[in-house]
Amino acid sequence: MKTIEELIEAGVQGQRVFVRADLNVPLDGSTITDDGRIRAVAPTIAKLAAAGAKVVVASHLGRPKGAPDPRFSLAPAAARLGEILGKDVAFATDTVGDSAAAVVAGLAGGEVALLENLRFNAGETSKDDAERKAFAEQLAALADLYVGDGFGAVHRKHASVYDLPALLPHAAGDLIATEVGVLKKLTEEVARPYVVVLGGAKVSDKLGVIDNLLEKADRILIGGGMAYTFLKAKGHEVGISLLQEDQVPTVQEYLDRAEKRGVEFVLPTDVLVSTEFPDLRTKAPADFSTVAADAIPADQEGLDIGPKTRELYAAKLADAGTVFWNGPMGVFEHPDYAGGTSAVAKALLDSDAFTVVGGGDSAAAVRILGFDENAFGHISTGGGASLEYLEGKTLPGLAALED
Ligand code: 3PG
Repeated sequence: MKTIEELIEAGVQGQRVFVRADLNVPLDGSTITDDGRIRAVAPTIAKLAAAGAKVVVASHLGRPKGAPDPRFSLAPAAARLGEILGKDVAFATDTVGDSAAAVVAGLAGGEVALLENLRFNAGETSKDDAERKAFAEQLAALADLYVGDGFGAVHRKHASVYDLPALLPHAAGDLIATEVGVLKKLTEEVARPYVVVLGGAKVSDKLGVIDNLLEKADRILIGGGMAYTFLKAKGHEVGISLLQEDQVPTVQEYLDRAEKRGVEFVLPTDVLVSTEFPDLRTKAPADFSTVAADAIPADQEGLDIGPKTRELYAAKLADAGTVFWNGPMGVFEHPDYAGGTSAVAKALLDSDAFTVVGGGDSAAAVRILGFDENAFGHISTGGGASLEYLEGKTLPGLAALED
């Protein structure tokens, strides 16, 4: 992969450089609740602008259905990017229409523009190669060079990620270079014990990575909504907790394999349960209790790992040499159910391990819960992307950046 330095050396002064970023940030209305992804890509944009490029930034946000939808506008991200860069960021109100053409034509060397959400155009995510290519060609008309730096989206075979680099001289941005460097380390020599903490809602999103990590990790700790499918696979009733019944046999197979390979699988021993999901908007106090993980009442759902599990997980992390963590331990967006996720974050900080926090949700969680992000070894901007990398899959957005 070419680096931006090589691109700059070859000359970017006055050239239109398309930067595919991942500015898919969490929003509350039009307020950005975690700007980590914008801050992470800003140095690449600043470097290109300082070298005299006309920088055309583009990204997706959320999952609009191929047409403009004001709820998913990137306008708030343009404003925040401008604040971070300390310069105006011109905002195009479309992707390849009149506004984009005018905004890009109006850029002088060293200036930056952001296009509206790429997913407002159906061609971006189309499964039809020709439709995607047609959109990529329209995007290519806006630029002379391409820099891929949207690490969070490199697992998507989308027009701006996969098809566009084939149409323009291209390089990998600094964020992608850093992310790939760290994840590569996790697939090669790791300091042991290698402890993996997996949480989040769906076990189906994590099956591939568990399959792969059973060959590499020494210990796997499970939390979040996916834990209940594991508890069910162990023969426990889980009340009205999140459950992917169809995944139970696969999970059972993984538990058996782990035992044979000597990989320690650790499941919650106690959980916080309630009859209702908490109100995340008002954050009104929840009515919950703590029960043993094998005694969840039939009318209750698990919403966080309990105090004994937090202690157990902290102990299992204390002697780690390497930790990869993806996915919150509970409904951390509500203060009553943030304790499990906080406990894991704290345990990571207390250990001397090389710690990698992967994933939009867990990365946002550590920042929203007030932890110092610089105290972790690496906080990835990619959730699905980092998992698929660790699964050993070829990621379209990285393959497209190869020379
Ligand atoms: C993410 O949040 O993981 C990336 O921005 C990719 O978003 P997507 O899952 O909607 O493709």
